[in-house]
Amino acid sequence: MATNKFLLAAGIAVSCGLWTAELKADEGMWLPSLISERISDMQSKGFKLSEEDIYSINQASLKDAVVLFGGGCTGEVISPEGLLLTNHHCGYRQIQQHSSVEHDYLKDGFWAMSREEELPNDGLYVRFLERMEDVTAAVLKGYEDGMTEIQRDSVVNANSAMLTEKAEAEGKGLKADVESLYYGNQYFLFIYREYSDVRLVGAPPSSIGKFGGDTDNWMWPRHTGDFSIFRIYADKDNNPAPYSADNVPYKPKKFFKISASGVEEGDFTFIYGFPGKTSEYIMSEGVRYISEISDPSKIGLRTMRLDIQKKYMDESRAVRIQYSSKNASVANSWKKWQGEMKGIRRLGTVAAKQEYEKRFAEWAKGTEYEGILDRLDTLYAQLEPYAYAADWYNESAATAEIVKFATGYMKKWTEQMFSSSTVRIEELGREMEKMASAFYKDYYLPIDKESFAAVMTAYAENVPENFRPEYFNDGLRKFGNAEVWADSLFGKSVFADSLSFRTWKDSLSVICNDPATEFGDAFGKWYKDTIKPVTDSINREITLLYRDYMRGQMEFEPQKSFYPDANLTLRVAYGHIAGYSPSDGIYYTPVSTLDGIMEKDNPEIFDYDVPQRLREIYREKDFGRWGVTDSEGNKTVPVCFIATNHTSGGNSGSPAINAEGNLIGINFDRVWEGTMSDISFDPAFCRNICVDIRYVLFIIDRLAGAHHLIDEMVFTEE
Ligand code: ARG
Ligand code: ASP
Repeated sequence: MATNKFLLAAGIAVSCGLWTAELKADEGMWLPSLISERISDMQSKGFKLSEEDIYSINQASLKDAVVLFGGGCTGEVISPEGLLLTNHHCGYRQIQQHSSVEHDYLKDGFWAMSREEELPNDGLYVRFLERMEDVTAAVLKGYEDGMTEIQRDSVVNANSAMLTEKAEAEGKGLKADVESLYYGNQYFLFIYREYSDVRLVGAPPSSIGKFGGDTDNWMWPRHTGDFSIFRIYADKDNNPAPYSADNVPYKPKKFFKISASGVEEGDFTFIYGFPGKTSEYIMSEGVRYISEISDPSKIGLRTMRLDIQKKYMDESRAVRIQYSSKNASVANSWKKWQGEMKGIRRLGTVAAKQEYEKRFAEWAKGTEYEGILDRLDTLYAQLEPYAYAADWYNESAATAEIVKFATGYMKKWTEQMFSSSTVRIEELGREMEKMASAFYKDYYLPIDKESFAAVMTAYAENVPENFRPEYFNDGLRKFGNAEVWADSLFGKSVFADSLSFRTWKDSLSVICNDPATEFGDAFGKWYKDTIKPVTDSINREITLLYRDYMRGQMEFEPQKSFYPDANLTLRVAYGHIAGYSPSDGIYYTPVSTLDGIMEKDNPEIFDYDVPQRLREIYREKDFGRWGVTDSEGNKTVPVCFIATNHTSGGNSGSPAINAEGNLIGINFDRVWEGTMSDISFDPAFCRNICVDIRYVLFIIDRLAGAHHLIDEMVFTEE
C-alpha cells in the first residue's frame, strides 16, 4: 500500500542522520507534533526551550496561545483575559465594516477604553489547535491497489468524514479536519476549538497600521505598524458560545509573555502560525505555467482594475472608504505575483527543475517511478489551455461585482424558497435585506462598469473563441464590443442601484431575466460544464502522479529533509534576524526605526502622511519605555525587522518568538525579492517582515493612551 512505502522512505531519511545538512538554511515549515525531528537543529541555532514547550497534548504549550484568525490569518493570545494580537490587515475587514464617514476607524483608529466599548464582529471566529494526529492508516482503510483515483477519493472522504464526526462529538465547539500531506501520502487529523465571539478592541489609524500602503507593501525597508487587537469571549464556563452580552473574556491555557528587550542581527527567531499554500515540489512545467503565463495574465487584468479604482478613490473620500478593503486585496496578490515572477526568473527555477528532473528520470529507470515525469508533462500540456481559460475567467468575468451580487442573490432566493416548506418569508426577507445592504454600502457603479468594460475587452482579445462561452461570443457579435455591452448591462440591470433593486427584488421573473444574472449564469454554467470537469479530471491524474513523484523525490534524495507543503495547518518556521542584498551594491540592514517613518513623512502623499501626534512625539523624543538609544546617542523607536523564517500567506499575524519563547513581534509580510518562496526558497533573498512588539506597545501607550491594555500584559526581561 502507498503509505507503507511512503513511511519506509521517510524512515530511511531519518535513519540516515545526514538529513539536516542538505536542506538550505532556514527553509521549511514544520509540523509542530513532529518537531522532535527538528528540535536539536533549533537548539543548535539558539532555541532554549524543548519540544514539549512548543507542542504538547499533556500540558499547556505555545500552541495553545496561537489561533487561526478568521480562516486566513494567524493571531496570538497575549493576556490572561483573552486579548489577541493580529495584523491590521487581518482585522481590516472588521475595522472597515464598523467605519463610516462619521466614525472613520480606518482613518482615525479605534480604541475601546472599556470592555463595553469592544465591538462584536458577525462571522469572525478563531480556532485553537487542540491536537493533531497521524490518521493515514484509518483514512486509507478499505483502499486497495488498483483502485481508480475517484474510488480512492471516495474511500478517503468517507473515512475522513467518520473521523471528523467522531472528533467533533468529543466536546463543545470542536471542529475537525482531515488534511492530506505530501499529496496524499500521509493524512493528519486536526482538532480545533472554535470561538466565534471575537470583539474588536483596538486598531491604529491606517496612517500607522497601513503606513506605506500598497507602495511599500511586500517591500523592505518597511515602516508599517501592521497590528490590531481583538478579544476572545466565551460563556461563563470558558466554552465557545455565539455572541452574547453575557459572555466573558476567554481564559487561555497559555498566553505569550512579552519581551521588550529587542532584537539584533543573528538572533534566533521562530514563527508559529498557519501558512496557507505552497508548491515546493511541483515539476518545471507547473512552474513555467505559473511564472510565464498565469502570473503575467492575472497581473495585466488587475492593473486595469486597480487603475480604475484609484482614479475614483482619489476623487472621493466616500469611495475611498468603500473600496479600501477591496482595493487592498486586489493590489496585494497583484504585487506579489510580480515579485514571484521576477524571483523565479532570477533563480532560474524552471531550468534548475528541468535539470533535477533529468537526474531524477535517470535514477528512476527500472523503478516504479520510471516515466512519471513524461506522463506529468503530457498532462500539463493537456491542462494548459483549460487552466488558461479558467485563470482568465476568474480574473475577468468573475470579478464583476454586480454580476456576483445578482447571481448570489438569486441563488440564495431560489434555494431558500424551494428547499424547505417551513421557510418563513419574513425571515428570508430580512436575510436578503442584510445581504443587499452589505453590498450597496460598498458599491460604486462607475468603478464596476469601467472595470467590466476593460477586463472583458482584454478577455475578448486574449482568450481563443473555443475556450469562451457561446453566450459571450454571441454577445460580442451583438454589441460589437465590451464597452457597448457594459452600457447595456449596467443600464438595464435592476441590480445597478439600490432603489431599482428594492422595487424589483421580489419579482423572481425580473431577477432571473436580468442581464447581470444572465451574464453570471451563462459564464458560471459554461465554467461548470465545459472547463471544470476537464481541469478536475486532469488534476486528479496529476495529483495521483504527484503522490508517486513526491515519494520518488524522497527516495531519490534520502539525505534531504522534506517538509509538507503548506495547507493552512499549524507550522513552525525558524531562522534568525538577517539583512540581505537585494541587488549589487546594496545591503539592507534588518531593523527599521521611527527615523525612517519621519524620512518618508509627506503630507502630500496619502501613503506617507504621518499622524500629527506622532510627529509631535518624535520631535519631543518622548518615547517612554519603548525608546532605544543607538551607538551615536540618537534616541528612536524600533519599528520593523526582517528574518529568514520560511512563511507564506496565512502567516500574517503570527507571533514572532525569540529563543526563550517570548513575543518579540508580529509577522506580516515578506520582501518582494523573496515572494517566490511559495515555489522555491532562496536563502539569499527570502525574508519575512515583522512589526517589532516595542513599536506596537509604543503606539498603544503613547499614541492611543490605552494603558489598560498594557496593564493586562505580562513582560519578561528575556
Ligand atoms: N502583503 C501582505 C500579505 O500578503 C500584507 C497585505 C496588506 N497590505 C496592503 N497594503 N494591501 O498579506
Ligand atoms: N501578508 C501575508 C499574509 O497576509 C503574509 C505573507 O504572504 O508573507 O498572510
